[in-house]
Amino acid sequence: MALRTILTHPHPVLREKAVKISEFDSTLHQLAKDMAETMYEAQGVGLAGNQIGVARQIAVIDISAQEDEKKYIVLINPVISEGEGCESGKEGCLSVVEYDAKVERFKKIRVTAQDAKGKPLDFIAEDRFARIIQHEVDHLHGTLFIDRISRLKQDMYKRKMKKILEKK
Ligand code: NI
Repeated sequence: MALRTILTHPHPVLREKAVKISEFDSTLHQLAKDMAETMYEAQGVGLAGNQIGVARQIAVIDISAQEDEKKYIVLINPVISEGEGCESGKEGCLSVVEYDAKVERFKKIRVTAQDAKGKPLDFIAEDRFARIIQHEVDHLHGTLFIDRISRLKQDMYKRKMKKILEKK
């Protein structure tokens, strides 16, 4: 296993549309394992391919019930096929440093995807789990949560970002 480097905004790969995956081989399995390891090391709850510079449609999502657990699912080519309800909740992102904001998301979603072996998945997700999936699917479309906040908040973030970059 190997830790991958998490790329941060404004890296251009975060804006790329991830390519669909069609080969479910050992390279993919290794990638998924590396992504999970990288996510846990960074204390994240989800990680999409783009974030480590691999613009392919893969995301890992933590599903641990307890803090000391490391249970996750791998979603390949995930699609949110249905969504209902709307809920505002705080989000952060391993690729967006030192910032979090409230984002509106579907409360309940239906997800179709494949697992790491290519087996089709079709399931319902709600609340926090649904939020994480929507956040990760956004990544695969080149969208960040900061694109989904108000213009005013975006401007605040840009100013903060500028200060952070100036310090470097
Ligand atoms: Ni993120």
